[in-house]
Amino acid sequence: MSAETLAFHHGKHHAAYVAKTNALLAERPRLGSTLVEVTRAARESDDLPLFNNSAQLWNHSFFWQCLAPPAERSPGPALARRIEEAFGSTEALLAGLKSEAVGHFSNGWAWLVLDAGRLRILSLHDADTPIVRESMQPLLTIDVWEHAYYVDYRNDRAKFAGSVLANLINWEFVEANLDGRGIERADQPF
Ligand code: FE2
Repeated sequence: MSAETLAFHHGKHHAAYVAKTNALLAERPRLGSTLVEVTRAARESDDLPLFNNSAQLWNHSFFWQCLAPPAERSPGPALARRIEEAFGSTEALLAGLKSEAVGHFSNGWAWLVLDAGRLRILSLHDADTPIVRESMQPLLTIDVWEHAYYVDYRNDRAKFAGSVLANLINWEFVEANLDGRGIERADQPF
């Protein structure tokens, strides 16, 4: 992931969601004191403009923490055991995540979540997020919006997803999220 990609993705796209969320909140009565509260309130009231921006803000805040500098890493013992139970092996998990990321139609996010306590791979469209689903706790995500890869990989989402999964996953963060507190780790006060 190049410096140019990070500069655009964090400095322009993520920043735009921050600015837009703040602008929309300034036009509304107080909906909550944290990003997660505001996002859930926006979903409950079908406030799509606010939901799209605040959920994207939370999703990106979570995504950056899922990444680490390039290195050969693997899940720690506790996480590896859970992955083996659910998918058979880490390789199978990575293949499943890549396939979900590549197969997802249009913009969205590929996720590894705890769903009612079980590890599960899924993808969600646009800004949609596990934080508005009661049964789900996020463990890991990959941004599959085109803005995540167009600078480095043009239209090649498969190459982007494969490279991120092979080289950039912060497995310590993923394992920490087994405690069910992943949502809080990307929350912020307003
Ligand atoms: Fe993004």
